[in-house]
Amino acid sequence: MPEHKKPLVVVTRKLPDVIETRMMELFDTRLSPDDDPMTQQQLIDAVKVADVLVPTVTDRIDRAVIEAAGPQLRLIASFGTGVDHIDNKAARERGIVVTNTPGVLTEDTADMTMALILAVARRLAEGERLVRSGQWKGWGPTTMLGHRIWGKRLGILGMGRIGQAVARRARAFGMSIHYHNRRRLHPDIEQELEATYWESLDQMLSRMDVISINCPHTPATYHLLSERRLKLLRPHCYVVNTSRGEVIDENALTRMLSKGELAGAGLDVFEHEPAVNPKLIKLDNVVLLPHMGSATIEGRIDMGEKVIVNIKTFIDGHKPPDRVLEGLV
Ligand code: 8YV
Repeated sequence: MPEHKKPLVVVTRKLPDVIETRMMELFDTRLSPDDDPMTQQQLIDAVKVADVLVPTVTDRIDRAVIEAAGPQLRLIASFGTGVDHIDNKAARERGIVVTNTPGVLTEDTADMTMALILAVARRLAEGERLVRSGQWKGWGPTTMLGHRIWGKRLGILGMGRIGQAVARRARAFGMSIHYHNRRRLHPDIEQELEATYWESLDQMLSRMDVISINCPHTPATYHLLSERRLKLLRPHCYVVNTSRGEVIDENALTRMLSKGELAGAGLDVFEHEPAVNPKLIKLDNVVLLPHMGSATIEGRIDMGEKVIVNIKTFIDGHKPPDRVLEGLV
C-alpha cells in the first residue's frame, strides 16, 4: 500500500457507532449502508477494490471470493473469533493475512452458556410462554418442574478459553466438571477447575447430565456430536451449544428430542442459520436463541477495537496481534 494513501477498508455489516467513527478517522472506510449481509457477488465486488476487508460470521469468504480479490487485498480482519466462514487455505495461498478477535468475548459467551444450562433445565422459556399466554392457573406443587443442576455432571466439549470460563461458572453452581479436548489441560488448571479429563469422548458422553459445546467448528469437529454419539447420551441429558451449529447433527438431535430420547437442548447456534429446523421450533423442551452469545455492547466494542488494532498494526508494517495464519507477514 502506498504510504501516503489511507487503506480502503470495507466493512460488511453495521458495527457499533464508536468503532465505525474511529475507523472513519483512521482509514478510508466504506461502511455498510443498511446492515444487510452481503451477497457473494457483493463480496466479490468488495474484494476487487478493498485493501482490507472486515467481514463477520454472516459472510462466506470462500475460495471463489478470495480468488476474485485484486492484488491490493492484503488483510481480512474478521469481526469475531470463529473463522470457519473464511477459507484460510485459499487466503494463505494468496498471501492474504487473516485476523480474528479472540479473548474479548470469552466471558459473555460463557455467561450465555450458563444462562442456557439454567434456562433449559429449569424451563425458563416455557414458563415465560405460559405466563404470557394467559393460561397460567397459579402455583402448583407438581407443575413446571424442571431439574436441579446442583450436583450434576457437566461435560464440556472443547476446553479452550470459553470452555474454561464455563467451567468456572458451573462450579459455582455446584456442578462437577468433566471435559474432552484435543489436549489435556495443564495439571494446575485442571486442579483449579477440579476438572476430570476424558480422552475418550464416547466414554464421557455416556456419563454426563449436561453437555456443553465449546469447541470451534473445523473439519475435525463437523458433526462431532453425530447421531451415533448423541445416542450415547442418557435420556435425561441436556445439550447446550453456544459454539457453532455444525458441531451437532441437528436433524439427529431434533429427532431424539422429539422422541424424548434426550431431555432438552439450549441452542444459540444452528447448522444452517439463520434457518432453524421447523421441527425444533415446535418443541417445548428446547430454548432457541438467535446467535447472541457475544451480544453485549461492551463485547462488540471490544471486538471492534481489536479489529482496529489488527488493521492499524498491519498497515504500519507490523505483525497484527490476532493473526489466524502464522508465517505470512
Ligand atoms: C460473533 C461468534 O459475534 O465470534 C464468534 O465466533 O460466534 C459470535 O459471537 C460473530 O462471529 C461475529 O462475526
